[in-house]
Amino acid sequence: MPATITAPGDRALSGFLASRARGISASPTLAVDNLAKELSQKGVDVVGFGAGEPDFDTPAFIKEAAARALEQGMTKYTAVGGLPELRQAIAAKLLRENGLEYSPGEIVVTVGAKHALYEIFQVLCEPGDEVVLPSPYWVSYLEQVRLAGATPVIVPASPANGLKITPDELRRALTSRTKVVLLNSPNNPTGAVYGRDELAALAEVVLTSNAWIVSDEIYESFVYTEEPHVSIASIAPEVKSRTLLVNGFSKRYAMTGWRLGYVAGAKPVVEAITNLQSHSTSNPTTFAQWGAIAALNGPQEPVQQMVEEFRRRRDFLVERLRLLPGVECARPEGAFYVFPRISGIFGRSVDGFAITSSTSFCQAVLQKVQVAMVPGIAFGADEYVRLSYATSFERIQEGMRRLEAFWQRLTG
Ligand SMILES: Cc1ncc(COP(=O)(O)O)c(C=O)c1O
Repeated sequence: MPATITAPGDRALSGFLASRARGISASPTLAVDNLAKELSQKGVDVVGFGAGEPDFDTPAFIKEAAARALEQGMTKYTAVGGLPELRQAIAAKLLRENGLEYSPGEIVVTVGAKHALYEIFQVLCEPGDEVVLPSPYWVSYLEQVRLAGATPVIVPASPANGLKITPDELRRALTSRTKVVLLNSPNNPTGAVYGRDELAALAEVVLTSNAWIVSDEIYESFVYTEEPHVSIASIAPEVKSRTLLVNGFSKRYAMTGWRLGYVAGAKPVVEAITNLQSHSTSNPTTFAQWGAIAALNGPQEPVQQMVEEFRRRRDFLVERLRLLPGVECARPEGAFYVFPRISGIFGRSVDGFAITSSTSFCQAVLQKVQVAMVPGIAFGADEYVRLSYATSFERIQEGMRRLEAFWQRLTG
């Protein structure tokens, strides 16, 4: 007799899910953003410091290139790893800007940098493998490493070193099971940027092991220091051969919704990713890829204009946050986030609501003054909170006025 298939009915739906799926928690950064959007839809005027995407529109010439591609019938599958023209344009960019030589066969185009990272962990990691994650870390790394069956090894970076890990801290975290060391510079959430000497010192430590370096460089264009962004792959050829460089179009060209990223690195890994992709997403959207080609080959002034505006917002935010009692705020050198330490007000209250953690702080701020931000606990750092300044200068001013009013109401 054939087995009967029972519909979920009254039974707990979660009982039907694989343990793999049950273990995933939703991205807390999106959760705050969703709540803020929900309130906004109800007509509440929320100042959103939660979003991880530029508030600028994609430059017109990029949109026009994608629209042209659509009109010209570029609506079919492409090569799984991306159009040869796009891989060529990425290779040219990596050479021009990062001094790195890759052949198009060492590059795979993915459905966003997030997808690139997911695929890397899937093709490299097995149960028992360890992945070193400096903390504070971007939330998705943790879940992606776990989904691949590997074990995250969290290395807390100290405020004394600008929330960047030191070579000694890295050395202590390495074991014979370390498969990957993840580096993210400029960093989400801290905005910290690793300079060439710091990267060289970390690379030297990695080379004493068999680990891969996964270098997430998605915020590369958002660096506010004299020294431009350095890719760890450019430190030395032996470092390059161990590095999987991840980058994309979302942040640099304000193309978050286009879903395009890439991996550059050793051919066998890139081929494995391409094979995985061939059974999951297939190629990234065809006409979006044509937009990306235009983005890389076209004028870069819109990126520079965006970066200058972000610098102005960062300076304003840092200056004002530092005036709030109990707040310590470093001036981030990159990305578009500030990451103040707010644990100085833990133990205090607003209207009888006790602030004891980054989550209760964010809840209180959203409820009392309608400002949305992301609790540091989402990044493994409960003493902090993340504010994105990818919102207009006027909204940032309004948000700061509200935060100042919130601080006025603190008691205890
Ligand atoms: C550190 C970091 N890496 C990767 C990504 C993913 O970017 P994409 O939109 O290309 O998937 C993000 C997006 O927020 C990010 O902050």
